[in-house]
Amino acid sequence: MLSYENKLILAPMVRIGTLPMRLLALRYGADIVYTEELIDWKLLRSKRRYNDILNTVDFIDQTDGTIVFRTCAEEKEKVVLQLGTCDATRALNVAKLVENDVAAIDINMGCPKEFSIKGGMGVALMAKPDKAYTILKTLVDNLSIPVTCKIRILETPEATLEIVQKLVSAGIRAIAIHGRTRDERPQHAVHTDIINYVADRISIPVIANGCSKEVEKHSDIYKFKKMTGCTSVMLARAAEWNCSIFRKEGLLPMDTVIKEYLKLAVDYDNAPSNTKYCVQNILRELQETPRGKQFLDCQTLEQICSVWDLGEYCRLKQSEYQKNGIQGRWQVCP
Ligand code: FNR
Repeated sequence: MLSYENKLILAPMVRIGTLPMRLLALRYGADIVYTEELIDWKLLRSKRRYNDILNTVDFIDQTDGTIVFRTCAEEKEKVVLQLGTCDATRALNVAKLVENDVAAIDINMGCPKEFSIKGGMGVALMAKPDKAYTILKTLVDNLSIPVTCKIRILETPEATLEIVQKLVSAGIRAIAIHGRTRDERPQHAVHTDIINYVADRISIPVIANGCSKEVEKHSDIYKFKKMTGCTSVMLARAAEWNCSIFRKEGLLPMDTVIKEYLKLAVDYDNAPSNTKYCVQNILRELQETPRGKQFLDCQTLEQICSVWDLGEYCRLKQSEYQKNGIQGRWQVCP
């Protein structure tokens, strides 16, 4: 059973937290990795398939054939699937679908995007504590794996503690707290004092989040842990920019990280558009360099790989996959 004590965690990040990035984070030293937020109804209309060429479990959208969620044995004991939901029954139905493939389920109660709020999901749930409680309690009562949630702070320590206590009483195993309010943005300072206030007063592990601006090297993670009084720390942007932040031995050069990421993207047949997006977010302002511009013109995985001298690696793997008929060889799981 997954433990949340003393852990370094890859935060949920839409489009960034797909399988290659999660595996890279684990290989660099993350203890737990969250998926990107997956919306309940999208997962519900997908079918579970075992992919015997990649050795992955794929949840495939029945309407357009896209892969909603891909996972594999290497991450099975450490991957937390984050759900976007506003409905306890739907959340449970999805959780049952993935229960045997992931280590835990997390409910997103922190996303401030219009899409989430309009749908009653993300941070909208913090304005409806009874509904939030019911979703968590339904999952806790009916699942064999841990249930957690990720929230933002409210305006005061007392108000934050009050809602956290209610959520904790549903039986969740841990809670991740992003130390910003729903109206604050990444450039605002993170309120370590409020996270600390809550962590001191509740009995389950608190996962501190929101420190990426201050984390330039691995040891900075422990400063944030100390300031917040939390047992575990969750990183989003610091890992998005350079996933080797999880390495105790220190950061690796950007090109090394990109190469290691691309190899995983090839190994797990990651979508070229998603791969490109992740590399763009590692490169950031370096997209303006000649190499960056060459990369931006790429459309296929092989073209992207060629920029980092991995064209041959990609070609060989892809022809192997094609030979094995990756398209037509989906097998239904027992
Ligand atoms: C996020 N964040 C986020 N949070 C969440 O609960 N579910 C999600 O799917 C996402 N998606 C997402 C995508 C991207 C690109 C970013 C940068 C962020 C928020 C994230 O998990 C985290 O709470 C904040 O970024 C603050 O942590 P850092 O970046 O200071 O470590």
